[in-house]
Amino acid sequence: MTTVRDVTAKAGDEPITMLTAYDAPTADIVDEAGVDIILVGDSLGNTSLGHDTTLPVTVDDMARHVGAVTRTTDDALVVADMPFLSFGVDKAASIENAGRMLKEEGADAVKLECGPHTVDLTEKLVQLGIPVMAHLGLTPQHVNQYGGYPRQGTDQAAAAQILDLAREHEAAGAFSLVLEHIPSNLAAEVTAELETPTIGIGAGPECDGQVLVVDDAVGLSEWSPSFAKQFGSVREEMESAVGDYVEAVESGSFPADEHSHESTDLDEIY
Ligand code: KIV
Ligand code: NA
Repeated sequence: MTTVRDVTAKAGDEPITMLTAYDAPTADIVDEAGVDIILVGDSLGNTSLGHDTTLPVTVDDMARHVGAVTRTTDDALVVADMPFLSFGVDKAASIENAGRMLKEEGADAVKLECGPHTVDLTEKLVQLGIPVMAHLGLTPQHVNQYGGYPRQGTDQAAAAQILDLAREHEAAGAFSLVLEHIPSNLAAEVTAELETPTIGIGAGPECDGQVLVVDDAVGLSEWSPSFAKQFGSVREEMESAVGDYVEAVESGSFPADEHSHESTDLDEIY
């Protein structure tokens, strides 16, 4: 079992690997590959639930998928993403929602999309025994404010704000930081300035680790961001297999004799 301490110990020594997973078979594959951290991301909304953004994802949605992943994972640290408005509104509700992921669903830590409003909450969660991964830079739950998913921290003031927030969340006790879609030189600066490991997505090669959405990494997504790399072509594989199945049924070549079983008990059926 990977712990948050193993993750912090690995940082600076060897790159930390992280991928999302939302269901049992994917978690099994990702875990078997030796990935350090599995994130049950609220990207679930886009990858698996058919939403256009992550905003409609509920705590119940997250809980169901976190449970599927923790039941299948033997080695990786499992981090549960906290969905839109499940944290940062009311402190007691934030703690209850985050706590549910550990207490009922077996997660090891939670991730929060961070800003000035999550510093105290991070401290409180950590005090209570809920390890926090802080997510800075592009935070997709702000899509309506951004009007899309633009790169963040691209001028001095915005970059300084990200560095300050990183420091504040480190001081609050976050065990790691996700840096999403920021200039690689800013990510390098945050990584150099902080003890806390940084895990980048669209943030260049200098972070202590990397994360991708698994659907993007294996080539299942219909669309993926420019900073993602496709390491496989699962979508093409599935399209070809499903096409072959349809053709086989239509042509009568499936099921064949080896897929069919008669029962001798039914000799008198007619
Ligand atoms: O929801 C998610 O998958 C994420 C990662 C992209 C960091 O937040
Ligand atoms: Na997310």
